[in-house]
Amino acid sequence: MTSCRLCGAPVEVFLDFGPMPLANGFLAGEDFETEGFFDLSVAFCMHCAAVQLTNPVPREKMFHSRYPFFTGSSTRMAEHFRAFAASVADDLRSEDPFVVEIGSNDGTLLRFFANSSVRHLGIDPSANVAAAASENGVRTAIAYFDPPFAAEVVRTQGQADVILAANCFCHIPDLHRLAEAVNILLKPGGRLIFEDPYLGDILRLNSYDQIYDEHVFYFSLTSVSRWLDACGFEVIDVQKQPVHGGSMRYTCARRGACRVSGAVADLRAREVCEGLHLPETYAQFRLRVERSREELSDVLVKLRQRGLRVAGYGATSKSTTVLNYCGIGPSLLEFISDTTPLKQGTFSPGMHIPILPPASFHSAFPDCALLFAWNHADEILAKEGAFRASGGKWIRYVPRVSLV
Ligand code: TYD
Repeated sequence: MTSCRLCGAPVEVFLDFGPMPLANGFLAGEDFETEGFFDLSVAFCMHCAAVQLTNPVPREKMFHSRYPFFTGSSTRMAEHFRAFAASVADDLRSEDPFVVEIGSNDGTLLRFFANSSVRHLGIDPSANVAAAASENGVRTAIAYFDPPFAAEVVRTQGQADVILAANCFCHIPDLHRLAEAVNILLKPGGRLIFEDPYLGDILRLNSYDQIYDEHVFYFSLTSVSRWLDACGFEVIDVQKQPVHGGSMRYTCARRGACRVSGAVADLRAREVCEGLHLPETYAQFRLRVERSREELSDVLVKLRQRGLRVAGYGATSKSTTVLNYCGIGPSLLEFISDTTPLKQGTFSPGMHIPILPPASFHSAFPDCALLFAWNHADEILAKEGAFRASGGKWIRYVPRVSLV
């Protein structure tokens, strides 16, 4: 039996996907033979309600100098981060504020501070995305954020007024060590603000594709509060965010330092109503996930039998879970269109479907497109009107399998 990474209590596995490749392990044809697989299973802790992977992959395998995810690849995400930066900037009170972002990727969030000459530092272990940030004028260190690194930043640049993180903390297996580092870096009255995909939305939307190697935790307010409580911090505000298929932004401070907003108690009560603390909630989720797999495979097999061409849209990390779990390979999906140059010309992890640039999609529209980047649906449907006009149909699987 595995124990909880947050509180040490035994955890219960509720979903076992079996062997999976790295979600962002897009690869060349000559690397098929040596591709690595690991067991992807997700568990629930009865004691602290943390939902987590049981076998995290060594971080060096995931975050490196060819990390293929760039935050700025979506214009809507850039808009989201501009608004996030503006709300943080409005609250900065000190004369010479210092803003730090953990997991700053290509600097999409911090560049708004850089452009206003606010002292800032981005920290990211993936050298290529960090280099893109530096090119955009964002001061970035290539590193994992840990207590020695935090102490070094304090020694050279002082403590931070605000520490930000977006889609980052759910990637970190040792949250207690993370809190220790935050405690060193953050000013006594400072704020920690982070956002991550929200467990309540994953359950509601049946978005099981959020489960992959990089996401060690699937946070709820309940589990975040228990974690922070053990580290001397508390959540003082929560704000739902429409990105990444439903995220939650947690504003946190040292316990007792700030007034706690009523939104925190409201969300806590809602999580109890929705049963986020109950094992049966996760057993039911598993049944819905299994049904979704059957329905999606069925739709794709029938389309193939009718001789129709189907392509994927967006070679997301999430697509790796769907393709491998549902057994969807090149015989069902001709190719996946993606805007990321680093992914183009490679093959999808595990199922080895070719990843091609959007020009391949536009030059000969397929009959149907399986929307893997469903969290960017508004942006994509708006710009791909010609596909629909040509008679093309979108296949969705979140919140349920449908052809539109
Ligand atoms: P995202 O859902 O943010 O990725 P992940 O599941 O990895 O967190 O999707 C981003 C991917 O989708 C990225 O590879 C770029 C691709 N994409 C397109 O190909 N076209 C688009 O219009 C958009 C918005 C994204």
